[in-house]
Amino acid sequence: MTGELSPIDKAKFVAAKRAANMVEDGMRVGLGTGSTAAWLVRCIGEMVRNEGLKIRGVPTSTRTAELARDVGIEVVSLDEAKWLDLTIDGADEFDSDLHLIKGGGGALLQEKIVATASDQMVVIADAAKEVDTLGSFPLPVEVIPFGWQTTQALLEETLVSMDVMGRSASLRMNGDVSFVTDEGNYILDLHLNRIANARQLALVLNQIPGVVENGLFIDICDTVIIGHGDGKVEVRDINEGTVEHDKLDFAESDNLFTDLVD
Ligand code: 5RP
Repeated sequence: MTGELSPIDKAKFVAAKRAANMVEDGMRVGLGTGSTAAWLVRCIGEMVRNEGLKIRGVPTSTRTAELARDVGIEVVSLDEAKWLDLTIDGADEFDSDLHLIKGGGGALLQEKIVATASDQMVVIADAAKEVDTLGSFPLPVEVIPFGWQTTQALLEETLVSMDVMGRSASLRMNGDVSFVTDEGNYILDLHLNRIANARQLALVLNQIPGVVENGLFIDICDTVIIGHGDGKVEVRDINEGTVEHDKLDFAESDNLFTDLVD
């Protein structure tokens, strides 16, 4: 079954598998959203079912909540958990300071709340997500539907004074209709190409009325686990300044792949 996985999926899987090893009995764990985070949820589910791991998971989207329940993880709300030991999530881009762009899957608001309420945030990603400067990936900004076109105009006007290389914003669509987040909001994707000062931009965007949150995660991520298609993983810890290398075996996880037929 693993033979049917693309190198990129293998990279995502090994990053997720390595991160799952950081999860310990009794932990309250934030569960991210997206294809890499879905691997993580599957890996943790396997540990719950086969090894008797006992954790409480706080999902960052309805999609992740559904998957977590399906694989046997006890799901609780953030308010029930109150504070988390660890959050593991994917990212659309990360730089050498472990600043991130997130929200490609539209879950940035819950993802940022959950990650911020955690002792540690670990990002799992394939190597293609690493960039010198953030901004090639369109920056998602969650806005309330009321007056969203006015908010879009304000955003574009604000970008004129920012050190970015593009300034257009587009409404994210889901087929013919607007994409709607779990909180009932819209997403405006900012096509910036290059963000020279991500810290400043993150603060400025959230001052605009109508903006709920933006997808820049500044000083939130502690560790990134980078997966490669050959099973190699690199673990970078920004606080410790350490880099570890590891290699994972796909064969051990054949039972994870068997339910991937759909
Ligand atoms: C969802 C996210 C995801 O973490 C991000 O889009 C990465 O997704 P994937 O693992 O599928 O590449 O921020 O809102």
